[in-house]
Amino acid sequence: MADKMDTEWHRKDWVKVRGVPIVWPFTPNWERIDHFRAREDDIVIATYPKSGTTWMSEIVDAVLNDGDIEKCQRDVIFQKVPMLEFCVPGAVPPGSELLNSLSSPRRVKTHLPISLFPKSFWDMNCKIIYVARNPKDVAVSFYHFDTMNNLHPWPGAREEYVEKFLRGNVGYGPWGTHVKEFWALRQKRNILYLFYEDMLEDPKREIRKVMTFLGKDLSEDVLDKICLHTSFKAMKENPTTNYTPLSSAIMDQSVSPFMRKGICGDWKSHFTVSQSERFDEYYQNEMAGSDLSFRFMV
Ligand code: A3P
Repeated sequence: MADKMDTEWHRKDWVKVRGVPIVWPFTPNWERIDHFRAREDDIVIATYPKSGTTWMSEIVDAVLNDGDIEKCQRDVIFQKVPMLEFCVPGAVPPGSELLNSLSSPRRVKTHLPISLFPKSFWDMNCKIIYVARNPKDVAVSFYHFDTMNNLHPWPGAREEYVEKFLRGNVGYGPWGTHVKEFWALRQKRNILYLFYEDMLEDPKREIRKVMTFLGKDLSEDVLDKICLHTSFKAMKENPTTNYTPLSSAIMDQSVSPFMRKGICGDWKSHFTVSQSERFDEYYQNEMAGSDLSFRFMV
C-alpha cells in the first residue's frame, strides 16, 4: 500500500475540479461525489480544511452516543466519520464507498465548497454542521498540514505560502468563498454554523448547540464528560482521534503532528507584521458587505 502511494500519489499538484483545487488522488471518478446518494438522517460535518473538522466529528459522534466513551472508541475517526471525497486509487478505497457500508445515522466529513457539494444532501435536507475558523490560524495550520501530508503538494517557503493562500491557490480553493457561501445558505438550509474560536472559548456552550441541533437531550454530567473527552489534550492522546493509526506514507507526524497546537492566535508567532497586514487587507475585502465576522484572538 505504502509503495504504491510513494510512487504514484506523493506531492502531486492540486487538480482543479470545476475550478476548485483538489487533492490529486481524490479526483479520478468524480461522479462518485456528484452522484453520491445521501440518506435523510445523514449528519454532515462541513468545513474549510483546518477549521476544527476532527474536533467537531468527535463531538457529533459523542453526542449521538450519549457520551458513551467506549462506543466512541469503537473505531478510528477516519472510519467512523469518513471523508466523503477521500480516495487513494489502488490503495485506500473512496470515502463514498465506506459511507455506503455504514449504518445510519452516518456521520459524513467533507471539505467540499458549495459548488461541489453533492445535490443529494440538499434534496434530503440533511443536517449540516459547518465550522469556520479565522483565516490567519487556518493558514498557519494548513501550512503545517501540507508539510506532513504527502498527498498534498509541498507548501514551499512560508512567505510564498501566504500569497498562495490569499490567492486561493491551496486545497479546496479560497477560504473566503467557502465560509461566505455556507453562511449565506444557513437560514435557508438545515445548517448549524459554528466557530472554532467559540468552541475554544466555551466548549460546553457550543456542544449544547450541537446537541439541540441533533435533537438530543443530555444531562449536564454527560455534557461535561463530552467536553473532557473532546478536549485538545484528550484527543491528542487518543489514538482513535489523533490520526496516528493512519499510514505515515500519507501523514508523516514526525514532520508535524496532526494534533498540533489547538489554539487561537498561533498566527502571531508565525506572521511578520507585513504578512499580518496582507491578511487584514484580504479579510476586509472578503468580508465587506457581509455580516459574517471572525475573532483572531480569544
Ligand atoms: P492547529 O494545527 O492550529 O493545531 P481539521 O480537523 O479541520 O483538520 O483541523 C485541525 C486543527 O484543529 C488543528 O489546528 C488541530 O490541532 C485542531 N484541533 C483538533 N482537535 C482539537 C480540539 N479538541 N481542540 C482544539 N483544537 C483541535
